[in-house]
Amino acid sequence: MPAPPIRAIALSDLAATARLAETVARSLHPGDAILLEGPLGAGKTAFARALLRAVTGDPALEVPSPTFTLVQTYETRVGPIHHFDLWRLSGPAALAELGWDDATADIVLVEWADRLGALRPAGALTVRLDTGEGDARTAILSGWADRLEVPA
Ligand SMILES: Nc1ncnc2c1ncn2[C@@H]1O[C@H](COP(=O)(O)OP(=O)(O)OP(=O)(O)O)[C@@H](O)[C@H]1O
Ligand SMILES: [Mg+2]
Repeated sequence: MPAPPIRAIALSDLAATARLAETVARSLHPGDAILLEGPLGAGKTAFARALLRAVTGDPALEVPSPTFTLVQTYETRVGPIHHFDLWRLSGPAALAELGWDDATADIVLVEWADRLGALRPAGALTVRLDTGEGDARTAILSGWADRLEVPA
């Protein structure tokens, strides 16, 4: 099996991260999964916020980190988007209780997606964010090779 295509993108500041999220937002359809990975403070929530603002058309939309509720659902132009934060997930049974199966019929946007284990959806776009100097971040994209036009 060939290795999945990987693209690395330099994000010089928060606006660059938001632009990448807006590019992803333009390509979203029901059934899609966006998996966000990377350490604390890497920008996973910032990415999710920019994406949700783009697909709701509301630049002031409040997008808190769903650290305690674990999931927050937004009605958007492309249908419901379920924003998960799995940092506190206790295991796969807890994910089932949160309605994971039904959510994947809509769009899921998942922080700490590495916690999904075997439940990781096939065909997902994975965005791995890492910190650098100051506001610099890097994004490593895997998946959606034919779907996203992103600058290298
Ligand atoms: N290029 C950038 N991209 C994203 N966030 C940035 C960037 N530069 C600075 N920031 C800041 O870094 C912080 C990222 O925090 P954020 O909550 O999005 O991280 P996170 O990955 O969701 O962390 P956690 O794992 O704790 O949920 C924010 O304060 C944001 O303003
Ligand atoms: Mg977060």
